Amino acid sequence: MRISPAEDFDDLSEQAFQLAERLLARRRQPVVVLPTGNTPAGFYAACVRRGSASRIGKASFVQLDEYLGIAADDRRSLSRWLDRVFLGPLGIERDRLIAFNSSAESPDREAARVERCVRETGIDLAILGLGPNGHLGFNEPGSAFDSVTRCVSLTPESILSNAVYWGGTSEVPARAFTLGLGTLATARATILLVCGAHKARILRRVIEEKPSPALPATCLRGLPNCTLIADRAALAEVPSSLLTA
Ligand code: PGA
Repeated sequence: MRISPAEDFDDLSEQAFQLAERLLARRRQPVVVLPTGNTPAGFYAACVRRGSASRIGKASFVQLDEYLGIAADDRRSLSRWLDRVFLGPLGIERDRLIAFNSSAESPDREAARVERCVRETGIDLAILGLGPNGHLGFNEPGSAFDSVTRCVSLTPESILSNAVYWGGTSEVPARAFTLGLGTLATARATILLVCGAHKARILRRVIEEKPSPALPATCLRGLPNCTLIADRAALAEVPSSLLTA
């Protein structure tokens, strides 16, 4: 995993945009996995500023994760969030997003459908954030490195960190869809974005500890084309000898 330090959130967001553009340069119809959260928000803003002529503006997309069992038009659904901050402002039609149907009758069949779609299209670039417990998407601790797209139960830690969007922990859906770690490992390139002092300890563990499902993001260490872009605050506990720039 290559480490690319950023000064702050703005620098991280701009670096992510520039790297994504370079990685997608030679792909004719690129497919990009999209995360949600505070960390990628500046990256999406950078994409929107460049407009639909950018390479990412012309790509097709896959939703990284989604809550299970909420209405399609619920503002708190993660696909609605992507609509608001990225797809809508760039005028990207919904048919260019492979999204989970949150209210599907059979969640297991819905997860299998998305897995099939992704295996068919392939993934050119997966953009990911890091959860406070080391999760990627909703691949919570204990997720196998070869796991596929599936329904999962959220850990209390993830419920707590999402409570602010739902008006309390009891309101957060208990289950979610997520692309699997094995699914994400098929991406031709991966960018992990990590920002803020509150991620410093978990980031150091992701970089230093032996890869293990107990810390899902350590699966990225074995990938050939993965770049971590993290700001100084998030890198504060990482030995400077490991920083490349
Ligand atoms: P954040 O979320 O970007 O809002 O910190 C990351 C995550 O929990 O995956």
